[in-house]
Amino acid sequence: MKGIVLAGGLGTRLYPLTKITNKHLLPVYDKPMIYYPLQSLVEAGVKDILIVTGGNNAGDFLRLLGNGKEFGLKHLNYTYQEKEGGIAEALGLAEDFTEGEKVVVILGDNIIGQSIKKEVESFAKGKPGAKIFLKKVKNPNQYGVAELDGNKVLHIVEKPKKKIGKDNSGLAVIGLYMYDNSVFNIIKTLKPSSRGELEITDVNNAYLKKNNLSYSVLEGVWLDAGASIESLLEANLLIAKMNSRSKIL
Ligand code: G1P
Repeated sequence: MKGIVLAGGLGTRLYPLTKITNKHLLPVYDKPMIYYPLQSLVEAGVKDILIVTGGNNAGDFLRLLGNGKEFGLKHLNYTYQEKEGGIAEALGLAEDFTEGEKVVVILGDNIIGQSIKKEVESFAKGKPGAKIFLKKVKNPNQYGVAELDGNKVLHIVEKPKKKIGKDNSGLAVIGLYMYDNSVFNIIKTLKPSSRGELEITDVNNAYLKKNNLSYSVLEGVWLDAGASIESLLEANLLIAKMNSRSKIL
């Protein structure tokens, strides 16, 4: 199983913080944001990891993470996304790196407060297909949202304008995805969305159409630290609270 951390984009929602650096390098309490998703993969036993980045500060990832020694890794791989073509386009750049293996993909601004080791291990051993992770949140419409009927995912909508499901019961699709290697063929068939990006939601819907998408509901903490200034602040405060070194909270 190969690991991929997606850390491209311009981070315009966090302007002017992202005017001179990449959003995934911003601090979340005492560490740069990207440390958290990278640590999730390493803790899950994933050893071969690719960082996909872009923009003007790509070199800073190399300076910060090097070969991943601080994380107990022997080496780290990097690639560069030339334009802001979306999460699915960024993932498409990983095709050669994966050498036909399954992949676990995590967004560089997502912080997952529980181990994903068991999930990674069982997906690696299991049947081909895709797996997503859902989380009940107060404001699902800011994310990709899954509408469920009982245990079945009916469809996933990217940042829906309307409420999804009875009483807005749709669950947010978090930035952790597991795919078999056919994901790269799916990405090649995608068309840009209205925001001009290849959407990861379209990838997940393609698996759904083939009846090949499973999901788990995440029990623990999930933070999309880079979604807005508010979520960046919330992530900082929460990590500070959880960290015993914090004397201020
Ligand atoms: C992306 C995905 C969205 C997902 C979210 C999780 O949104 O497009 O489906 O729910 O990440 O962090 P973005 O943050 O790129 O707008």
